[in-house]
Order: sequence, then structure tokens, then C-alpha cells
Amino acid sequence: MEITAGTLHLRPWRLSDADVVARALRDPEIRRWAPPGAPAEPDEKEWIADRVEGWADGSSPSFAIADATTGEVLGNIRVRTVADGVGEVGYWVLPEARGRGVAGHALGAVGRWALACMELSRLDLRHAAENAASCRVAQKGGFALTRLLREPSWDEENETVEVHLHTLSHA
Ligand SMILES: CC(C)(COP(=O)(O)OP(=O)(O)OC[C@H]1O[C@@H](n2cnc3c(N)ncnc32)[C@H](O)[C@@H]1OP(=O)(O)O)[C@@H](O)C(=O)NCCC(=O)NCCS
Repeated sequence: MEITAGTLHLRPWRLSDADVVARALRDPEIRRWAPPGAPAEPDEKEWIADRVEGWADGSSPSFAIADATTGEVLGNIRVRTVADGVGEVGYWVLPEARGRGVAGHALGAVGRWALACMELSRLDLRHAAENAASCRVAQKGGFALTRLLREPSWDEENETVEVHLHTLSHA
């Protein structure tokens, strides 16, 4: 499964991406906003194997976001099925590719694809309220802010964290 979105090419992750994944999994901003449970010592080969498995069992399709001209890998976007008819999307972009619309465009394309092809009635996106760049990405991808939540924190300093829930539904 591959998606072309303007200057971006989205395609499944492969083992030859290990070096770029290793760099991403050690990036401080990507680690800062990773969902709870991210391993302290990330293993890029396990990470890629997990992505391949997500396609094999259909539970969590994920894409490497690449430059359509050069093939350079710029980021990651993944949809997980979290309940019957409900998916949740997550993403990151490598530091050198941030601030030029990569996440916003990839999110718009994957949101449309997931609603059309994964038999979902709703796609959720949650981010820490403090993560203003991710909030902007959600808006640019067409996800409406639907709820403010307070959830157990994934850092050690705070017990809870404010979270924005955005949603994309069929028009
Ligand atoms: C969040 C992230 C995915 C954004 O990727 P990106 O490709 O740079 O996103 P885009 O260029 O499409 O859009 C970023 C938007 O946020 C805005 N932005 C960036 N930093 C910001 C900040 N500190 N405060 C407010 N807005 C900010 C940009 O101006 C841009 O909006 P604009 O197009 O209206 O100018 C990237 O910064 C990242 O990977 N961060 C670490 C991991 C992460 O946070 N993942 C999401 C977890 S929910």
C-alpha cells in the first residue's frame, strides 16, 4: 500500500530504513512526546518488525513518509484500530524536515485513506496540550478539536497531563 500526496510518498517501513529509525527513536523531541510505554532503550529493528506485523494482521498500518523525488525518509505516520470502527493516528517528523508541512500533508492524506479503506467511522488524534506544533498539525489535517482530557502523565514530574482529543469523521 502506497500513497502519493503532493511532494510526499508514503510507503510501508522496511528493514533497510533501520539507520533513519535509529536516529528518530533517539531524537529528544520524538522521545518527549512518545506515547506512554516507549522503551528506554529503543531497538530500531524491533520497531520496524512491529510495523511490518501491523500490516500483516491489519491492526495498525504505518507509513514511512518520504520525499517523492529523492526518496529521503522524513517521518512516520501510523493508524491503530482502538475500538470497533475507531482508529487513532500518531506521527513524528525528523528534526531536519520539520516546519515545512510534512506532518500536516501526510496527516490529511492518511486520514482520508484510513476512513475510506479501514472501515472506520472515526479517527482520533490525541496530543499533550503543551505540544502546540502537533495541535496545529491536527487542525491542518482536518481533525476538529473535540474534547479536553486529563490523563495520567507519562513524565515523572507531573501526575496528570492535559490532552487534546481531535477527531476526523466522514463528512
Ligand atoms: C509535531 C511534528 C510532527 C510536526 O511536524 P512538521 O512536519 O514540522 O509539521 P508541519 O510543518 O506540517 O506543521 C507544523 C505547524 O506547527 C507550527 N508550530 C511549530 N512549532 C510550534 C510551536 N512551538 N507553537 C505553535 N506552533 C508551532 C508551525 O508553524 C506549523 O504551522 P503552520 O503551517 O501554520 O505555520 C514534529 O514537530 C515532531 O515530530 N515533533 C516531535 C514528535 C511529536 O510531537 N509527535 C506528535 C505526538 S502527538
